[in-house]
Amino acid sequence: MENTITFATVACLLACRTPAAVAPRAAIVPDPHSLANPAQVAVRHLALDLTVEFEPRRLRGTAALTLDRRDPAAHELRLDTSELTIERATRCNDERPLRTSLAGPHPTLGRALVVELPGGVDCIAIKYETSPDARALLWVEPSGTSGGKHPMLFTQSQAINARTWIPLQDTPGVRFTYEATIRTPPGLRAVMSAENPAQASPANVWQFRMRQPIPSYLMALAVGDLEFRAIGKSTGVYAEPSLVDAAAREFVDVDAMMAAAERLYGPYRWERYDMLVLPPSFPYGGMENPRLSFLTPTVITGDRSLVSLIAHELAHSWSGNLVTNSTWRDFWLNEGFTTYVERRIMEQLRGAPAAELQWYLGRRDLERTFARTGRNNPDTRLALDFGADRAPDDIPADAAYEKGAMFLRALERFAGRAQFDPFLRSWFDDHAFQSTDSRTFEAFARAKFPAFPFASWIHEPGLPADVAPQSSASADAIEAAAGAFSREGTVPKTSAWTTLEWVVFLRALPPELGLARSRQLDQQFKLTSSPNAEIAMHWLPHVIRANDVDARKAVERFLFTVGRRRMVRPVYEALIEQGGTWRELAASVFARAKSRYHPVTRETIAKLLAP
Ligand code: BES
Ligand code: ZN
Repeated sequence: MENTITFATVACLLACRTPAAVAPRAAIVPDPHSLANPAQVAVRHLALDLTVEFEPRRLRGTAALTLDRRDPAAHELRLDTSELTIERATRCNDERPLRTSLAGPHPTLGRALVVELPGGVDCIAIKYETSPDARALLWVEPSGTSGGKHPMLFTQSQAINARTWIPLQDTPGVRFTYEATIRTPPGLRAVMSAENPAQASPANVWQFRMRQPIPSYLMALAVGDLEFRAIGKSTGVYAEPSLVDAAAREFVDVDAMMAAAERLYGPYRWERYDMLVLPPSFPYGGMENPRLSFLTPTVITGDRSLVSLIAHELAHSWSGNLVTNSTWRDFWLNEGFTTYVERRIMEQLRGAPAAELQWYLGRRDLERTFARTGRNNPDTRLALDFGADRAPDDIPADAAYEKGAMFLRALERFAGRAQFDPFLRSWFDDHAFQSTDSRTFEAFARAKFPAFPFASWIHEPGLPADVAPQSSASADAIEAAAGAFSREGTVPKTSAWTTLEWVVFLRALPPELGLARSRQLDQQFKLTSSPNAEIAMHWLPHVIRANDVDARKAVERFLFTVGRRRMVRPVYEALIEQGGTWRELAASVFARAKSRYHPVTRETIAKLLAP
């Protein structure tokens, strides 16, 4: 223990704002979602050299892996792959092939690539190419971009899709550093979750380096017509030229968020924090790729009202990227902690009432989840226990985010901030650049707060009986206004409302609003044609249920342009529930839009539409 603390302190001194952090050798927890053998041979460094080919949609090149031969008796390396074509494996700096075999495909995990390792070999190079259907890759047609002229490519590796574009040990229990050479078509820039070069050198060749050890799910690449705007000294944004100025204006709060996070949890350890705005087909709100968060363009509303998303992805620089769940069963250690940290950051930026509103909305979502799944559903535990028969992406995640965050808040209230804030900081410091699990956290927290009911929070479904209620004064007022409008048609005073207030209002309206009320609201506020996708996703289900045929075009346009799963799903659900021509509309838009959607969104909607 003494040694660990000393080591962690030294590692922190080295890593804080300086390169060359070294991955400590944590014990490896077996991961049911990986076919790799890191306990015997672990990947420590990756050198990628890839050519990006939009025609025929593939990445082609070499992955060189530097190995830590943990078990000298082990003579094979097992890697995760999925849909990769392996040309050959050799020693690095040697053309003679090493013997390899691809194991039969597993339905969710892909195929293990087994490479025979003669004694003393500690670096191998694999020549390979990706498939056009690689799940991590979305190849965006020019028509799916804001500029409309150039294609774009982006990756989404979390949870287990890095293996569809790189042969590696695709488990969050293994960390490695990386460098990459990416060759792009003329005129397109490549960016990665790494140190990004200011320019290509030579032409169309981009060099990257990530000196801090990261897990595979944080490997990320995007290629497109991208420009950069600085925001602060070590922050900035990449986006298409037509969006980059609006993005830089929308995201100015990032420096204040960074300062808030550092005050709470200590120095940011990744040097720069930049963001990348993707096309609307990005299936998530955001993805915390280190040094370069990937973001949906729907966050740009013009009034900075949705930037808690940035606080969230930035927060992952501590909770998740620095201290990582060892397996996806402990996903709450990433997302619950991050949701908690996000709200602490937003509290400092926007004040306690604004943060309370976020807590309130989160709590309502969680209650809805419980209503759907039942309070006793084992998936609502924090520490989950699922195996290779279920893919991590198929596990409902609300409990990980919201219950996880509520748990930390309950512990915060129990301990008081004076005790709790330094405690959480020490969790991050003591486990920096490590992967960890629920058991480790429970023991760590129990040692400090022995009287807290950890077991029920972490291991039981639902919520503990004595959990504090969650209210928000502004939500109360807005919900009263929604009641008055639906009963009497009293138009609410909305001049001070931003996106969140509208969301509270729209969610508080009765599901069967009726055509008269829905038209009244629309005439006044033009909600059907709102460019704010967060408002549209909550409004369009109302007009669908009100059977407002005039809104068909707007619904179609929304589903055709937006590809963020959380946003299109409720609109498709409303169309399907409404039935008749509305259901037909859902089927016909999906048929045309699905090639623009990321597989994550495509599969979710296809399931909804399947009879
Ligand atoms: N890491 C997640 C996104 C994710 C989770 C991708 C699981 C793949 C598998 C990211 O940090 C996240 O939580 N994004 C949220 C936004 C957030 C504000 C709740 C999203 O995309 O909705
Ligand atoms: Zn997250």
